Amino acid sequence: MRDRILAPSMLSADFGHLADDTKMIDRSAAQWIHIDVMDGVFVPNISFGFPVLKAIKAASDKFCDVHLMIVEPEKYVERFAKAGADLVTFHIEATQDVEGTIELIRKSGAKVGISIKPATQPEVLDSLLDKIDLVLVMSVEPGFGGQSFMPNSVDKVKYLRKAIDERGLNVTIEIDGGVSAANAGMLYEAGCDALVAGSAVFGAPDPKAEIVKILNA
Ligand code: DX5
Ligand code: ZN
Repeated sequence: MRDRILAPSMLSADFGHLADDTKMIDRSAAQWIHIDVMDGVFVPNISFGFPVLKAIKAASDKFCDVHLMIVEPEKYVERFAKAGADLVTFHIEATQDVEGTIELIRKSGAKVGISIKPATQPEVLDSLLDKIDLVLVMSVEPGFGGQSFMPNSVDKVKYLRKAIDERGLNVTIEIDGGVSAANAGMLYEAGCDALVAGSAVFGAPDPKAEIVKILNA
């Protein structure tokens, strides 16, 4: 069985008590911490940037999974790596220079992820899989937490699992949006290595117990 990774999304945290929520995740069974950066251009919402990432970093030793929902990510990827991202994921739809962006992230020492929106087919990643560490399948329209899971994203996961395994590549498959204990087991079984969960974790009465529940779903 593959390792199961969970990445709670800090987008659903209480920003008035960010350090407390971050430390709570730090003490949980979740292995990663997911940071959603939105610019109000690539997505119709604005979240946060470098100072907030640094504050989260200061309160957590978890693997720092940064999901950029910004146009022209090549302008900023090095700064996100410097600010503490262990993995920098950008959207394939957000840049004219995918290969250049991959290169910049690599040179900065972070791992490289590419994300696809619900309307983007996984075949666009065929020629890129051997150059990256992670693919992030969006199972909601990026921009907001708390949306419903889009079931057609499961076929994308299956396609990618097959492509990655057949080629013997070491690429992590992550899925983001509408994930909860209700669909987590199915998603790990469909081929996901890592699940992102925001509202399911932070909206639970006991987030740490919910994390364990999702990991064991
Ligand atoms: C949405 C973000 C997600 C979001 C997920 O654009 O990329 O990471 O926080 O939230 P839930 O788990 O509530 O769907
Ligand atoms: Zn995300």
